[in-house]
Amino acid sequence: MSDYVPVAKLSEIPPQGKKTIEVDGRFVVLFRIDGQVSCIDDVCTHDGGTLGDGELENFAIACPRHGAKFDVRNGQALTMPATEATVAHDVKVEGDQVFVRFFDEPRKTAEVARVANSDSASASPLCEEKIREALKSVIDPELFVNIVDLGLIYNVDLIPGENDKTNVNIEMTMTSPMCPAGPQLVGGSRKAVEELPGVGVVDVKVVMDPPWSPDKMTEEARDQLGIF
Ligand code: FES
Repeated sequence: MSDYVPVAKLSEIPPQGKKTIEVDGRFVVLFRIDGQVSCIDDVCTHDGGTLGDGELENFAIACPRHGAKFDVRNGQALTMPATEATVAHDVKVEGDQVFVRFFDEPRKTAEVARVANSDSASASPLCEEKIREALKSVIDPELFVNIVDLGLIYNVDLIPGENDKTNVNIEMTMTSPMCPAGPQLVGGSRKAVEELPGVGVVDVKVVMDPPWSPDKMTEEARDQLGIF
């Protein structure tokens, strides 16, 4: 782990966009999405594709070579054919200056800078869609598909909380009652939603009724798993 080093100006990164930079011979991509600035290696772990040339969809970047998606906030691989995270780096922003602290290994979480600015999406109110987008960062460790596309999220309720915060109640299920990844998926879901600005208390409840079945998956998830 290095110290934070200045790498770019915030104003050089387009809102809801990205910018590839080189720092001491290392290519990384800076992202500025919904008022958050993050940084990952410009390397797809499937076969070395340059992620900076890929298409952004919310917090996911798609490798231009074979389409694997990565979470730009923590480098986690979201879809096949990539199965391993790319390296995510910590970011902080002071004024217009973006600093990055570089890491050599992939991690489950990375420090993402929240920027007080006028990115339009950051000003948008909390809503079920935003919560579901955040939950897409939680990946089933056996199927390598996010829990929203797997159809594990049954209900999302937003309830006014204290201090202008919004409490979120989530009802989710598991692909089977004995799913060994259950605690990990519940904890990951809570954390992903708690990190959203304006969120207060997050309650995640696991329900087994109705039971999960493959027809609850999105078409994208079925494609990923090769189910037709
Ligand atoms: S090199 Fe990125 S998906 Fe194959």
